[in-house]
Amino acid sequence: MDVQEFQSRLESLEADAVDRLAEAETEDEIIKVKNAFLGRNGEVQELMGILRELPDEDKPVAGRAANGCKEAIQEAYEDRLEALEAEQLRRQIAEEAVDVTLPARRPDPASPHPVTRTMRELTDVFVDMGFGVADGPEVEEDFYNFEALNFPKDHPARDMQDTFKMVDGRVLRTHTTPLQVRSLLAYEPPVRLVAPGRVYRCDSDLTHSPVFHQVDGFLVDHDITFSDLKGTLNHFADEVFGEETPVRFRPSFFPFTEPSAEVDIGCIFCEGAGCRVCGDTGWLEILGAGMVDPNVFESVGVDPEVYSGFAFGMGVERVAMLKYGIDDIRLLYDNDVRFLRQF
Ligand code: DAH
Repeated sequence: MDVQEFQSRLESLEADAVDRLAEAETEDEIIKVKNAFLGRNGEVQELMGILRELPDEDKPVAGRAANGCKEAIQEAYEDRLEALEAEQLRRQIAEEAVDVTLPARRPDPASPHPVTRTMRELTDVFVDMGFGVADGPEVEEDFYNFEALNFPKDHPARDMQDTFKMVDGRVLRTHTTPLQVRSLLAYEPPVRLVAPGRVYRCDSDLTHSPVFHQVDGFLVDHDITFSDLKGTLNHFADEVFGEETPVRFRPSFFPFTEPSAEVDIGCIFCEGAGCRVCGDTGWLEILGAGMVDPNVFESVGVDPEVYSGFAFGMGVERVAMLKYGIDDIRLLYDNDVRFLRQF
């Protein structure tokens, strides 16, 4: 082989390498093609063996040609790799591109549970009338839950409350009425507060849950009368159930109020005509109320000759069930989002 042939062999190797690199589709293929030419047993390397057999005077020319060929293939290899990367990036961008004409994915915002929402709504009606909000422990002393509220020891009224008792003698509060006692021990009258919160009774059916919620409230000042109670609850009924909602008071008994009343509103479903929900009476029982019993004042050191007050208490679930037309209390606790999303 002479130097001309050597050079033309190099040229055709280079052309061949460039063609095959251009056809290689993946990084692996490109590397394989490069090694086939420049690798230790590659075609260019093979030709280098022949270089040694050329006449000495031709060696510098042949050597330069061989180096040029190696560099050209190396360069073609690097260009091809770069091009492949650019191509992959372009494809990735095209695939992941945001279609700005698609409707946006809506966020799935949380919203208050219907019981929470109702409890806040009931509380707010009284807050707007100037009542403060009181909070207390759910594991309660017998004194606050019963004793100071004029439940005599061993009185059947305690059994009526289906109390969960703790081994240490405390109870899970059966109502939020203990906040009346706690507040009157903490503050001098005048006091007007509502106590929203969770309460417990060993009771479970379509309309009763062992864990439920109440809003209790009371107002103590000089010269508070039953008409103050009526005016307050009339306004409350208008706010929660609509203007001119009829309200009636029926005599009842609670240990901590005297006199006591069950308070009904005109049935919001039949407007008094009588229906399944109100049991054909035209009325829905909505809360208990009365004038604070003098014995309660005595047990918290407030002089019943100087002060008087009214009190009331209601179940939040009952109001929520009436407002939203829910007939099974367990729906409120199943945490089925298909149910909860409706509110
Ligand atoms: N605590 C009573 C209950 O859970 C409800 C109640 C009735 C609360 C009359 C009051 C009230 O504050 O004056 O059944």
